[in-house]
Amino acid sequence: MNFKKRILCIGAGYVGGPTMAIIADKCPDYRVEVVDVNAERIAAWQSADLPIYEPGLDEIVFRNRGKNLFFSTDIEQGIRDSDIIFVSVNTPTKTYGQGAGSAADVQYVEKVARTILACSTSDKIVIEKSTVPVRTAEVMGRILRSGSGNVNFAVLSNPEFLAEGTAVEDLLHPDRVLIGAHDTETGKVALETLAEIYGHWVPADRVVRSNVWSSELAKLVANAFLAQRVSSINSISALCEQTEADVQQVAHAIGLDPRIGSRFLQAGVGFGGSCFRKDILNLAYICGTYGLEAEANYWHQVVTMNDHQQDRFVSNLITALFNTVAGKDIAVFGFAFKADTGDTRDSPAIRVCKQLREEHARLRITDPKAIGNAKLEIPESDEVAYIEDPYEAARGAHALAIMTDWKEYKDLDYERIYQSMEKPATLFDGRNLLDRSALFEIGFNVYSVGRAPLTHF
Ligand SMILES: NC(=O)c1ccc[n+]([C@@H]2O[C@H](COP(=O)([O-])OP(=O)(O)OC[C@H]3O[C@@H](n4cnc5c(N)ncnc54)[C@H](O)[C@@H]3O)[C@@H](O)[C@H]2O)c1
Repeated sequence: MNFKKRILCIGAGYVGGPTMAIIADKCPDYRVEVVDVNAERIAAWQSADLPIYEPGLDEIVFRNRGKNLFFSTDIEQGIRDSDIIFVSVNTPTKTYGQGAGSAADVQYVEKVARTILACSTSDKIVIEKSTVPVRTAEVMGRILRSGSGNVNFAVLSNPEFLAEGTAVEDLLHPDRVLIGAHDTETGKVALETLAEIYGHWVPADRVVRSNVWSSELAKLVANAFLAQRVSSINSISALCEQTEADVQQVAHAIGLDPRIGSRFLQAGVGFGGSCFRKDILNLAYICGTYGLEAEANYWHQVVTMNDHQQDRFVSNLITALFNTVAGKDIAVFGFAFKADTGDTRDSPAIRVCKQLREEHARLRITDPKAIGNAKLEIPESDEVAYIEDPYEAARGAHALAIMTDWKEYKDLDYERIYQSMEKPATLFDGRNLLDRSALFEIGFNVYSVGRAPLTHF
């Protein structure tokens, strides 16, 4: 088949895979190829068992794969053959040297730019899909312009706003698609070329155009604002626990004000995932590099509050279990950083479980999708068991901690769970997921976030 254009995506991760699957699905006249250095990941994308779990994704990949959607490890050939290249590699927090622990590690983005330059024999549009520090497109541009000059490159910023767990829905019905371009003839043409792709399914008024720097920065700021809301309501949850105010009632009351809005006001054990922490730390670091210390400290506090919320959850748990968890079995319900994903990157469960282990608790961890990834974070041992069946995980435990808001956990038979547990049986709902009055009626002592505990003592 003669395709209108050939799209390449470098990086077959949580963003590259789903994004390209949707583009392939919605643009049958384009050829879409996803490449990665990780051969195992590519093999999984080619198999019946995709490397990531997202509701609705399997079906879309399976119906387009081999038609206009391809996965490969041949990056160089992919570059040569393509007209449009999305760069969707990871940009983790730097772990070494200057800015360790806060700056973004952009080495993979730079490496990709060099590979694109080395392999290109025709003009390309290069699109930053990864979340990058503001002004990274300048670096990309300088590298791409450092060749012989026979090939022209246009660099665009097109950050991804999808949320894991709802990636397919978010991609199909985005609030907005942001495209940042330079105000040059080449920039404008490139921008419209990309807008045309999204135009296959995204209403025109949802495609937002900006300059490159605004687009790069908007992604960091979006994540910073979202995380800030979580930390803000979590800070209030601590005060609620002291005063018998109920954080859910407070959130409901303030959320009715349209200036505040009701979404993302759910108190809990804190945010996780691969992006929030890293993007805020990066934003703070960038502020610092421009001498904006007060601004850097302001944003840093959002992360500090998140860590504190997890520490507080553990402290509350230990206090409620008579000041010791040593030798006690704790059933951990959920390890993914949120429901509907198998991703455990920066999941609150990691910090909580590690602290419980330091206190010599024994863990019985269950999760519908994340056990494989969880084992990489906290290896299985005599003291740490991974158990698929939540009823089995709870059996004999002194306490049960809800760490992920999986819908499945709402529908369990808690009477049965209670009967199988050590008494007094205590439930710590880190997501305010369950009906705590019903649990209390069954016999549990119930500790929720930001609400007075319900105990039988
Ligand atoms: N995960 C999310 O929910 C999300 C949402 C929006 C934006 N983002 C951003 O998107 C980017 C990618 O995130 P992700 O979660 O998909 O990461 P990921 O780690 O799942 O995937 C990145 C992939 O890039 C590959 N890669 C790295 N260097 C490469 C190279 N030189 N050549 C080819 N492949 C290479 C890695 O092997 C990996 O498979 C990050 O910048 C992230 O901040 C992520």
